[in-house]
Amino acid sequence: MRITQVENIDSEAVSKHGLPGFVFAEQTLYEQEKDNVFAKGWASIGCAQQLKKPGDIMPVRIAGVSLIAIRNKDGGIGVFHNVCRHKSAPLVDGPCNKRTLVCPYHKWSFKLDGELMGAPRFYGSENKPISAEDKADKGLIPVRFAIWWDIIFVNVSGDAQPFEEFIKPLDELLAEYPHQDMRHVSSTDYSGEVNWKLAVDNFLDGYHVPFVHSQACSIESALGQDDLFLSDDIVGLRLPHGASSKPAKTAKQLPHWNGLAEEKRGTQQWFGIFPNTLFFVDPCWVQTIVVKPTSVAKTDETLTIYVTSDEAASDEFVEERTRLSDVLNEVNQQDIELLDKLQHSRTSSVADQGHLVQAWDQVGMAFHKMWLSKMQAK
Ligand code: FES
Ligand SMILES: [Fe+2]
Repeated sequence: MRITQVENIDSEAVSKHGLPGFVFAEQTLYEQEKDNVFAKGWASIGCAQQLKKPGDIMPVRIAGVSLIAIRNKDGGIGVFHNVCRHKSAPLVDGPCNKRTLVCPYHKWSFKLDGELMGAPRFYGSENKPISAEDKADKGLIPVRFAIWWDIIFVNVSGDAQPFEEFIKPLDELLAEYPHQDMRHVSSTDYSGEVNWKLAVDNFLDGYHVPFVHSQACSIESALGQDDLFLSDDIVGLRLPHGASSKPAKTAKQLPHWNGLAEEKRGTQQWFGIFPNTLFFVDPCWVQTIVVKPTSVAKTDETLTIYVTSDEAASDEFVEERTRLSDVLNEVNQQDIELLDKLQHSRTSSVADQGHLVQAWDQVGMAFHKMWLSKMQAK
């Protein structure tokens, strides 16, 4: 009998075949994911260095919620629902820089820290400013958030485990990298006609890399991959000697992390942080991909690239940074094109007859099981 309900998916079958096709296509499951997977978890929404100046505002739509991240006057970050406290109009609809947020509907205005500032003609014909008392309960609704390696994570439900606890295994693994030195190179938006889980699964699939992205990785170096199982929410892959078995000795290289041990200067590691954060650490650069579902078969992504120091961000390395950006964006474009096609076949009725491979598919499969356990949790 074919399985059509999440409650009936058997973990053993997932070990062999991965999740059945319907979980990538069913509207009702997407509705459940909004709550069980996204709102209750620590989902990423973007990168702090995308907000460069005080007043920079970045709206994000992700799994049924509409948020704004704001760089405030003191240089700190705030995250709020992008929802006016009068009749819930959205306050901004694109990245912008503002001193105050003014609702387009009836012009209520809010400070960058979320406090209500003014509400025109609040008392009707009695023309006086809104009182402190009437303002007090009408500020923007804040969202619990944390910033780690420049990634902004949010917990919309407000009751997930503490972020430090959630990220600890990965934080400890990467303790020797001076991530506070990293400098933003570029952020690029993508859009795919694909379920968000297939985008995550693909990032955790080291098997396809030498075939789909032969420009970036040889099969010999891909064979050296180690699987990393760090927690119930974090998995990854490690190439101890990097993606290219013969590094181009002649080309100028971007500087590596300050103080990075000699034996780590070839190591690449990449991680899936449940549910939607894809994170790649190279000796000379960092890449994050924030995966943002906007419907069951539509996913936006923002790919952000950093280098490892002020020196690496200087004019001296402008060509190397451009080349890096070009390669990583070319790789992601190849993935997006593949994913758009995969959405059709991977959701077919025979997709539960696929055969995962012991040597390559264990990390992706672990992600499938994470999803299953959150969705089956009572
Ligand atoms: S909905 Fe924003 S001011 Fe009315
Ligand atoms: Fe890929």
